[in-house]
Amino acid sequence: MLATVRSTTLSLTMGTLSLCAVSVTGCPQQEPPKPAEPAAAPVAAPPPASPTIDPARLAVFGTPLPQHYDSKDNPPSDEKIALGRQLYYDKRLSKNQDLSCNSCHDLANYGVDGKKFSLGHKKQLGGRNSPSVYQAAGHIAQFWDGRAKDVEEQAGGPMTNPVEMALPDPKRAELVLQSIPGYVDAFKKAFPADKQPVTIKNATAAIGAFERRLVTPSRFDKFLAGEVGALNDVEKAGLLKFLDTGCVACHSGTLLGGSTYQKVGAVKPWPNPIDLGRAALTKNDADKFIFKVPSLRNVARTAPYFHDGSVEKLPDAVKLMASHQLGRDLADADAQSIATFLDSLTGDIPKEFIQEPQLPPNGKATPKPDPT
Ligand code: HEC
Ligand code: HEC
Repeated sequence: MLATVRSTTLSLTMGTLSLCAVSVTGCPQQEPPKPAEPAAAPVAAPPPASPTIDPARLAVFGTPLPQHYDSKDNPPSDEKIALGRQLYYDKRLSKNQDLSCNSCHDLANYGVDGKKFSLGHKKQLGGRNSPSVYQAAGHIAQFWDGRAKDVEEQAGGPMTNPVEMALPDPKRAELVLQSIPGYVDAFKKAFPADKQPVTIKNATAAIGAFERRLVTPSRFDKFLAGEVGALNDVEKAGLLKFLDTGCVACHSGTLLGGSTYQKVGAVKPWPNPIDLGRAALTKNDADKFIFKVPSLRNVARTAPYFHDGSVEKLPDAVKLMASHQLGRDLADADAQSIATFLDSLTGDIPKEFIQEPQLPPNGKATPKPDPT
């Protein structure tokens, strides 16, 4: 900017000089060319310097996202993952055959349904907001209260949860799967060592193996890998605000969360005291309002927010966090700045990997939908 202004001044001066040189009748009193004016000359203030972030402050986020969260307890194979993908999309695992995992965790929509509470069997409402399944395998445990230890254990829950897929018991899921010849084949291929492979345990292992590959790397990972240009200046300013405000006390690690349990309302009580969080599980008063800190990956796309789905807009969620978790009043502009940074965590959906699969057709004994 400064450079442009200076060169304009210079060339104007030169123009006057050369005009004068061709004049025959003498020149008007010539002023000596002024030196280019210093500091006062620029019209606009120079743009703010690009925010620089001390790399040491990024250590709190660890390394970029891994490519998968495969587990040696559930070794993956192409056949197992392909079966898991089918089961994830199969509505026949619900009582009325109208709900699959994907109904509430839409993989094309960052793994959520966008509702405050999801609609389960007979349009019943659950009591908690559906979290995303992307990166879930990387959390310390599953569910808002961490009551399932991993994605394999978690996958057994929804099928028999009366307000979700509502099958009467796990045996029923096995009967459904055993009645579908294509699945009998697919389970044999996915679990070749098993004599009777069509079990609920293997079904949840297959779903888990599929979920362990649901990873959405974003520009932030490039940034963590050292590509400083991967975030723009506005996002970097938001990241600094996020660090300076103290959000990383809980939202740390490569998932910016997912690794600890914390009290919601750590400084100021949460406005909605209905859900006791982990205390409902442990019956211990000290666990009241303790929830798993959610990951902030893709958070700009997974509204509404919090276990109670109470907040629609990300900057509002940021302000609420600052006030209830840290006792800080954030200005609107600062909340917006943090929200802008958080959008850099919006990753790439693995479109090919999540393609809706062809499902094997019913066999003769496959039960009919049960709307009751
Ligand atoms: C009717 C909607 C619904 C259906 C169907 C459903 N879920 Fe969920 N899911 C939820 C809700 C709500 C929660 C949070 C419940 C809680 O924390 O108590 C959840 C939690 C999860 C979590 C934990 C994520 C985290 O961050 O802790 C995973 C993983 C998950 N579901 C996977 C699945 C799979 C796999 C299926 C199919 C077998 C499935 N869900 C079917 C609504 C649903
Ligand atoms: C003391 C720990 C702590 C601090 C500090 C903290 N959070 Fe949280 N954050 C949580 C917990 C716990 C939850 C889950 C609350 C719930 O829904 O019950 C959460 C949830 C969120 C959510 C909602 C995510 C979702 O998927 O619903 C956002 C967004 C968020 N935090 C952003 C921030 C920001 C930005 C800051 C800094 C201003 C911050 N948090 C500071 C613990 C913390």
